[in-house]
Amino acid sequence: MKRHKTLLANLSLVSNALQELLIPSFPQNYVKFHQFHQITANPPNPISKSPNFNTPSPRKPLDFITVCQTLSSYNNDYNRALEFFNWVENDCGFQHNTETYNSMIDILGKFFEFDKCWEFIQIMRKHSFSMPNYTTFSIMFKRYIAAHYVSEAIDMFDRLGEFDLKDETSFCNLIDALCEYKHVIEAEDLWVKRQLFVKFVTEPTKVYNMMLRGYAKMGWWSKCRGFWEEMDGKGVRKDLVTYSIFMDAQCKCGKPWKAIQLYKEMRRKRMQLDVVVYNTVIHAIGLKEGVDFSVRMLREMKDLGCEPNVVTYNTVIKLLCENGRMKDAYGMLYQMRKMGCQPDVITYHCFFRCLVEPKELLRLFERMLESGVTPRMDTYVMLMRKFGRWGFLRPVYIVWDKMKKLGCSPNEAAYNALIDALLQKGMVDMARKYDQEMLAKGLSAKPREELGTKTSIDRSGDVEL
Ligand SMILES: *[C@@H]1O[C@H](CO)[C@@H](O)[C@H](O)[C@H]1NC(C)=O
Repeated sequence: MKRHKTLLANLSLVSNALQELLIPSFPQNYVKFHQFHQITANPPNPISKSPNFNTPSPRKPLDFITVCQTLSSYNNDYNRALEFFNWVENDCGFQHNTETYNSMIDILGKFFEFDKCWEFIQIMRKHSFSMPNYTTFSIMFKRYIAAHYVSEAIDMFDRLGEFDLKDETSFCNLIDALCEYKHVIEAEDLWVKRQLFVKFVTEPTKVYNMMLRGYAKMGWWSKCRGFWEEMDGKGVRKDLVTYSIFMDAQCKCGKPWKAIQLYKEMRRKRMQLDVVVYNTVIHAIGLKEGVDFSVRMLREMKDLGCEPNVVTYNTVIKLLCENGRMKDAYGMLYQMRKMGCQPDVITYHCFFRCLVEPKELLRLFERMLESGVTPRMDTYVMLMRKFGRWGFLRPVYIVWDKMKKLGCSPNEAAYNALIDALLQKGMVDMARKYDQEMLAKGLSAKPREELGTKTSIDRSGDVEL
């Protein structure tokens, strides 16, 4: 039963109700998942082309949630993800649908395998149950833009008529992807150029918010301010989201008092404030006046009938940790649980970042796992780096093993953290083994002098020394 619990905790995308529904059929799925895992874990050649799966055909069909979950655990190893994807289809009789195709396309896109993505999209079109939808292309937009293939993304948008999806929703998804991955200028450009087409966007505030957030994300503070003023000039309505983004930008550029001014302005205008606005102002006031004022504001929002959420508590906990007030931070952790607000992975990150005691760090990591909070890849990496820097190899391996046991395949940063820790201890052969393993997975290893990988890159230049 414990096993199921751990794995179920992994299904972070799934609501509790769905998780409960899953339990009856889970042992079987777990076994299958496990078989696949054993077959492909540490293969002699990283990925064999035709794995020898001698599994009998399943009695009960796999459910798509388990398939998606397993796929996402392989999201740093697209070969293995692909292999699993084909295996469940060919050997388990699983019928892929839009959801599982979308997961697969997302993983392929992460590795710039766009041709393969398109092959899948063509296959998807053949059946109604796997028809590409907005999500499919939203994933493609994101992956294209993250790879800086801006014109490919825009071309794709223009081709979406083929799929009956060339409309406002897809356009917003494109703008959103551009703004998310540092191409706000292109987003604004596109928005201006396509004014004719986008006329039917009844509420431009949403698009302006995306662009404002994009500029804030890039740290172009004066551009943010200009854009904020431009919205007034053009008569674009500002909503709570606009305010929150701009207030957050003011905090980030070191002017928390301006965020507090805006908060007061909103109160004056009698705007109905939501939890996001409060979270921003709690952060701002903590920076300007100190964390005790944040705690006071937390109480005030409750009194005004706005329920704090996990972000609210995380904001206060982060400020407390950064001020070295670990005891108060633990107190807040206790309080949030008591208020029925479950800590999430970010809550634990706040502690992990500030803890300086290896034993305490490891203990809290255990506690996090016990309470059913699933670490993210950057959780593992942060912990391994910290332990590595302190010169403790054993906890590095504890974290590494935990990551693998929870079915998470290591990414570049995780490998690099482990390799660095090994090299620091002079364990060159072990380090080389992992260096080669990551290379075989298509992950690019950091060039290192100790492993002789740095000089080979130097020699590829024109100058022979
Ligand atoms: C696309 O299809 C998947 C699977 O049916 C579904 O989960 C997702 O919500 C759909 N996306 C949209 C935007 O309708």
